[in-house]
Amino acid sequence: MRREDNDSWDLLTGVGTTATGIAAARALASKGADSLISDPFARPLVEALGVDYYLKMADGELEGEETDSFDLSVMADGIAVRTQFFDEFFLNATGTGLRQAVILASGLDTRAYRMQWPAGTTVFELDQPEVIDFKSRTLADMKVTPTARLHSIGIDLRLDWPSALLTHGFDTSRPTAWIAEGLHGYLPAEAQDRFLDTITDLSATASRIAIDWHPDLNITSNDRSREVSRSERQRSNGVDIKDPSDMIYLGPRNNIGDYLSARGWQIQTHTAEQRFAANKMTFHHDDAAAGLLRAHYTVATLG
Ligand SMILES: C[S@@+](CC[C@H](N)C(=O)[O-])C[C@H]1O[C@@H](n2cnc3c(N)ncnc32)[C@H](O)[C@@H]1O
Repeated sequence: MRREDNDSWDLLTGVGTTATGIAAARALASKGADSLISDPFARPLVEALGVDYYLKMADGELEGEETDSFDLSVMADGIAVRTQFFDEFFLNATGTGLRQAVILASGLDTRAYRMQWPAGTTVFELDQPEVIDFKSRTLADMKVTPTARLHSIGIDLRLDWPSALLTHGFDTSRPTAWIAEGLHGYLPAEAQDRFLDTITDLSATASRIAIDWHPDLNITSNDRSREVSRSERQRSNGVDIKDPSDMIYLGPRNNIGDYLSARGWQIQTHTAEQRFAANKMTFHHDDAAAGLLRAHYTVATLG
């Protein structure tokens, strides 16, 4: 599937499948008493989508099949490290008194339901309308309630999402904790700049942002990842993503770290490999998961 300017999706088509795959990996990563993360809602959300492939992934039941050589624990470990990074970011931000949080490109992120937010915290989450609708409806059906005051906003992040945020009560005078997890590359280069400019404009001094990104997105488009996507295992399970990088806007774009620095953000960046080490986890070298394993993780504070 090649990208188009006004494309949209649900959780089983186009870019939406990435949110589903990530939730399945998060469910798998949450298994076990000593797991780094715990997302009790990831598996039920994947189950509610009703596609066997993703449920098998969530349960780790694709492991050991001989149809291809991709070990799902590579994906699960990468997601565990990434999830822990953004969880810790919110814990630190709220620990310093921030009470307004925005989860951009939220997908099946359940932080607004599973984290213990301090009293008085407002969380906004934004993603495509069908993605937001599915998650909100499914969790409500499960009688799962948000742990903060939650505004879920269905909107395309290439459109006028700041107006939607303001309409839902976002307060520009309050410092905000922003995350954009797993979004890099799904926005075109110029939309990325507008996105970062907008976040900066909406941010009071002392706002923070956490974001994962790649200095060179082209590394995510490689033969190894295509080999795994074309595998019999995926096709026989009803998933047909020929080349995951078709969903990404490749080609030149601004470096996110440099861009934020130039706009007054004090940044700190670590590689995924460093995040694995910080969590005492063994790093994997597998370009099938380059999007996770070769990511950079940046935390930045404004002013
Ligand atoms: C890899 S998923 C990550 C989801 C979530 N942050 C997580 O880590 O579980 C990418 C998400 O970006 C969202 N996304 C990408 N481009 C978008 C756009 N233009 N407008 C709204 N959402 C977008 C997708 O719908 C999807 O939920």
